[in-house]
Amino acid sequence: MLILAIESSCDETACAVGKFENDSYSVLSNIVASQIDIHALYGGVVPEIASRAHTEALTKITKEALETSGKKISDIDAFAVTYTPGLIGALLTGVNFAKGLAYSQNKPLIPVNHIKGHISAAYIENPELKPPFLALCASGGHTSIVDVRSYTDFVTLGRTRDDAIGECFDKTARVMGICYPGGAEMDRLASLGNENAYRFPSAAISGDNLDFSFSGLKTSVINTLHTAEMKGEKYKKEDIAASLTKSIVSSLIIKLHSALDMTGYKTLVIAGGVAANSHIREKIGEFCSQRNTKLVIPSRKYCGDNASMIAFQGYFEYLAGNVADLSLNASGTSRNIS
Ligand code: KG4
Ligand code: ZN
Repeated sequence: MLILAIESSCDETACAVGKFENDSYSVLSNIVASQIDIHALYGGVVPEIASRAHTEALTKITKEALETSGKKISDIDAFAVTYTPGLIGALLTGVNFAKGLAYSQNKPLIPVNHIKGHISAAYIENPELKPPFLALCASGGHTSIVDVRSYTDFVTLGRTRDDAIGECFDKTARVMGICYPGGAEMDRLASLGNENAYRFPSAAISGDNLDFSFSGLKTSVINTLHTAEMKGEKYKKEDIAASLTKSIVSSLIIKLHSALDMTGYKTLVIAGGVAANSHIREKIGEFCSQRNTKLVIPSRKYCGDNASMIAFQGYFEYLAGNVADLSLNASGTSRNIS
C-alpha cells in the first residue's frame, strides 16, 4: 500500500510517500520545506505567516514528493494528514489540502496525531521495534512521556505543565542573541562549555508524578543573563548552554527512570526535534545502558517535523480502521493522544 502524507502543524511544510507491505515499510520520498528563514526575522513562529507559507508550498512539495517517489497521484492508496496538535491555521491548510487529494482520488483520508507521528518516526529505521515501549516526545511545542501500548493506543503518563523543552532552548538562546530556532546552536555551544558554571533549577516536578516545568528553568536562565548584563558582567554562552543542558538532561533522566520503573518496559524511544540534541542522545544512551534498556532514537532527519513519520503512523491508524470523512476538522490542542 502507498500512503502520501502531509505535515503542516508548525513551520515546516512536508510531504512524503511511504510504501507498506505487511511487515516491510519504506520511505520512497521525504520532502520538507522549512519556513525557518521567514520566522527567524521575528525571533519565533508567526502563526498567520506560517499558514500562508504552507498554502504556497503545499502543491509544489506534493508534486516533488510524487516525482521523487516515482509514483503518480493515481498510484496512491490513501492520504494521511496531521490534524492535531499544532497551530490551528497551519493545521487547517494541510487538512484541507489532504481532503482535496482524498476526494479527487476517491481514496481514504487518515487523520494523524502529530505526537504519535513523532514517536512513529522510530519505526522508520528500526523495523524490529514493536510496541509496547516507553517514549519521550520532546520538541518545540511538546514534551510528553508516553506509554505506547500498541501501534495506535498511546497513553500520556507525564507532560510539561508549561513550556516545552524546545521552547526553553529557543527562548534562552534568543536572549543570548542566537537566531531562531536556537536549539541546534545551543547543542553546539554546550559541547564547548563548563556544565558546572551555573546551577539552574530542575525541571522535574517533585512528587509522585511524571510531569515537568520548563518555564521556571527558562526564567532562571534568562534572569541570570539579564542580571549579568545589568551588572556589566561578561558571561560565556558556552557555559550557559552547557549548564542549561545539564539541568535538562538530569530532569529528563529523573522522570524517565520513574516511568521505566513504573511500566517495567525495557525499550525507550526518544523522538521530536529536541531528540536531535547530541547531549541528550549521549547521556540518555548511558542511562539506558546502565539500566539494561534498549534506546531507539530516529536519525536526525526524522527527529524534526517531517511527513514520513505521518505516513508511518497513518499506516497503523489505517490498519486499525481510523479513517475520516470529509468533515474532518483540525484541532490546535489535544490533551490526550488520539
Ligand atoms: O519537532 P520539531 O521540528 O517541531 C515541533 O513539533 O515543535 O522541533 C523543533 C524544536 C525547536 O525548538 C528546535 O530548537 C529544537 O527542536 N531542536 C533542538 C536541536 N535541534 C532542533 N534542540 C536541542 N538540540 C538540538 N540539536
Ligand atoms: Zn513536531
